[in-house]
Amino acid sequence: MRIRTFEEYQQAYKKSVDDPINFWAEIAQEFEWKKPWIKVLDGSFEDASTKWFVGGKLNITENALDRHVREKPHYPAIIWEPNEPGDEAITLTYKVLHERVCRFANVLKKNGIQKGDRVCIYMPMIPELAIAVLACARVGAIHSVVFGGFSAKSIADRVNDSDCKMIITTDGAFRGAKKIPMKETVDDALIGCPSVQRVIVATRTRTPVSMIKGRDVWWEEEIKTVSADCPAEVMDSEDPLFILYTSGSTGKPKGVVHTTAGYMVYSAYTFQNVFQYEPGEVYFCTADVGWITGHSYIIYGPLVSGATSLMFEGVPTYPDAGRFWDIIERHKVNIFYTAPTAIRSLMGFGNEFWENKDLSSLKVLGSVGEPINEEAWNWYNTNIGKGNCTIVDTWWQTETGGIMISPLANITKTKPAFATLPLPGIQPELVDDKGEIIEGNGVNGNLVIKFPWPSVIRTTWGDHQRCIDTYFKAYPGKYFTSDGCMRDEDGYYRITGRVDDVINVSGHRIGTAEVEDALNSHTGVIESAVVGYPHDIKGQGIYAYIIIDHMPHDASMTRKEILATVTRIIGPIAKPDKIQFVSGLPKTRSGKIMRRILRKIAEGETGNLGDTSTLLDPAVVDEIIAGAKEL
Ligand code: PRX
Repeated sequence: MRIRTFEEYQQAYKKSVDDPINFWAEIAQEFEWKKPWIKVLDGSFEDASTKWFVGGKLNITENALDRHVREKPHYPAIIWEPNEPGDEAITLTYKVLHERVCRFANVLKKNGIQKGDRVCIYMPMIPELAIAVLACARVGAIHSVVFGGFSAKSIADRVNDSDCKMIITTDGAFRGAKKIPMKETVDDALIGCPSVQRVIVATRTRTPVSMIKGRDVWWEEEIKTVSADCPAEVMDSEDPLFILYTSGSTGKPKGVVHTTAGYMVYSAYTFQNVFQYEPGEVYFCTADVGWITGHSYIIYGPLVSGATSLMFEGVPTYPDAGRFWDIIERHKVNIFYTAPTAIRSLMGFGNEFWENKDLSSLKVLGSVGEPINEEAWNWYNTNIGKGNCTIVDTWWQTETGGIMISPLANITKTKPAFATLPLPGIQPELVDDKGEIIEGNGVNGNLVIKFPWPSVIRTTWGDHQRCIDTYFKAYPGKYFTSDGCMRDEDGYYRITGRVDDVINVSGHRIGTAEVEDALNSHTGVIESAVVGYPHDIKGQGIYAYIIIDHMPHDASMTRKEILATVTRIIGPIAKPDKIQFVSGLPKTRSGKIMRRILRKIAEGETGNLGDTSTLLDPAVVDEIIAGAKEL
């Protein structure tokens, strides 16, 4: 399974294309199965019916925990670094983690959770979050983790979409200097969630919370009443493991469904090969478990691989901008995986935050979530890696389950800002808007994947047709990524960004339609149009053009109210960075907003706006340009 040289990579890649069935079968054999599969691959992309390791029976937690408990019970599984730097870090060995997961799995059962039930998890980055996730997998419940920064309404929408029976949360959360309510937000959400019968609350901040009789119970009380022995539920390879909601260009967020075996095999295979983890090393991924990176590369990939995964509760700038470097020094981190936004923001804080830190334990630096610009890549390489670390720029998506295009650390020759080459099993292709394949090198196009890999999205919860329409219809027989991409003269891939109406803000995916819906719900807003624009730190910022019923006397007050509305409806991550009040939007005669023009204006372009002859009222464009200059 483990690739160690570039020649081995080439051989593995060739085999994965020539003989994918045996290629993946050999890898899958290295895991623990309760019953072997009958067929490696079935179904097709046309109707999104791909299945892997068909007929196999297993439980992912036996692979992530039990087998390591047998071989190395005292090996650290999770090192938890709390928000407050003075507070001691906690290490959970595989034995301890196994015991806690089993105990909490029994709590789930005691509280009515059975195989197939959906459980929403809304928690900060504390060990109980990983325990809750794994306990769901232990009993066969489908977890749906909702990022702790989302609003009550966002929680309610997600809970209702998949009829979650339970929510697991905490009293509150520490984020840097802030204390944030969690249970209170869940209480607000639950006003409109009839399916939820039970709320389990873990203590973190000792914030007073209201506990509703018959519905709410304390984590700490519940675990006292159950045994630490919980046999793992027998799961089919294709039983859903989790749902994770993500934004697209239209409508509300989709519940991306990943299933058990394919996801397990692919997340572990990619973890081991991309990061080249060796026994004894400490791996630190700064993502939140509320996103796919946290699922695949804080919890499942590392733990199934028997690695030590460092989980950090806080933020990179608390108590100061040296926090990541301080954690790396104290825990002797070998592999560090973060997002370009964090790099760009920390770059701006000056040398004193990293210069006096001993970063010599580092071997591999990772990047994920958005295109990394060359300046940030070079800064990361020189100042953090001291020119001795390999940088793995990993391209992938919630829907792909695991890393798709990336260097293998110390094996693939890297190039600043390039995700480089596809991993074994991944067959990328560039196509034009008509679906014609763009051959050769030195070309640009839309990125598609032409053959199934084990952790490809299986469905969108409750609406399979939406999955087909979104990912498999534009280019029949191929998975469409919605990303633009270039392939350079060396055949290296560089992701250029989304080609749909999704904005990537600090590595978070935000649908323009969702933000518009939130804006439009504010009293006084008649219509809005949202686009992305280049932002020095966040990668992209959110620019909102808003038609308001009457121009406010105090525009700054109205802006604040509008931002508060977006925070209430989606969460602070979706707040526009810029709001421009306009009297009209550039529309075609058929009423379609010409976003292309709005995007250009947001980018600061005023001259070459392309063809505006089809606009209903071209004068509106001049007004918007004038207004944008004043902003
Ligand atoms: O546009 C790509 C960008 O992030 C999108 C996926 O977002 P999400 O599902 O939230 O998953 C993020 C973490 C895997 C992609 O469509 N993206 C992700 N990684 C990269 C990237 N863009 C450029 N380079 C990357 N390494």
